[in-house]
Amino acid sequence: MPPVIFAHRGSSGTYAEHTRAAYLQALADGADGVECDVHLSRDGQLVCIHDTTLDRTTSGSGDVADHTVAELRALDVAAWKGVGIPSAFGGAGEQFLTLTDLLALLHDAGRPLRLAIELKHPSPFGLRLEEALIAFLMDEGWDPETSRLRGLEISFMSFNPDSMRQLAESAPHHMLCQLVADVEPQEVRDALRFGSIAEGALIAVLQRALKEGEELIDAQEVGIAGPGVEYARDHPERVRRWIQEGMRVRAWTVNTEEDALFLADLGVQEMTSDYPARIRLALEGNRQ
Ligand code: G3P
Ligand code: CA
Repeated sequence: MPPVIFAHRGSSGTYAEHTRAAYLQALADGADGVECDVHLSRDGQLVCIHDTTLDRTTSGSGDVADHTVAELRALDVAAWKGVGIPSAFGGAGEQFLTLTDLLALLHDAGRPLRLAIELKHPSPFGLRLEEALIAFLMDEGWDPETSRLRGLEISFMSFNPDSMRQLAESAPHHMLCQLVADVEPQEVRDALRFGSIAEGALIAVLQRALKEGEELIDAQEVGIAGPGVEYARDHPERVRRWIQEGMRVRAWTVNTEEDALFLADLGVQEMTSDYPARIRLALEGNRQ
């Protein structure tokens, strides 16, 4: 079986991440599924955006959690990328997506698709994010036994082991993906402006979460391991062992032919990419 390809935040190499255009392009690119990050808005709705704050990818600023969906819809979420959006992919006011919008877009595709939902932490709502997502899906008609919602197969991902444990109470084990990435202290320091004590504390929390995440995977308390490409390159024997022990592995973010072939050689069954068509081509070329 060729690896399953997910479009990461939509085809986010082509259009601004998490926009209607990025997801419509993902469908056009022939992705098997799409990935999205979710946060809760101030009025308790699940919205598709990566960062906790609006500053990087929108015309707004401040925390996502401090804005209502109506306020979020009024923002420009595409211009920052510097790539125009064809009118066939909707107007500027249609680019911001709630999870409801994304489900509708995927259903309209009229073909079976996979949706990988990443629950973003730390969330100001804590694990109420997980509760809200499960309640939302149940309302939509999601089947907790199969994790299917009409033509969609829904899986759940997080770096936070507590998120996985909480979701395990409602969702099937084989649809839970524990994400793992090595903690690089210097990268954490560069990303933060904290004093050294706070830096050290945060690094310790991240390292603890990684260790717990690896333990969840080793104990097969989740069905899917989600290593970053760098993690897979740094720990290939561990990834190979997970696969031999029956684990599915979903690697991210796979944007080069070299990485795709390296991971395929390890036996990785699922890849998440900003350029799903490019990765499909690389993998197919290698099989011919
Ligand atoms: O697919 C997992 C990957 O998306 C995790 O990292 O930062 O892109 O959400 P990030
Ligand atoms: Ca993500």
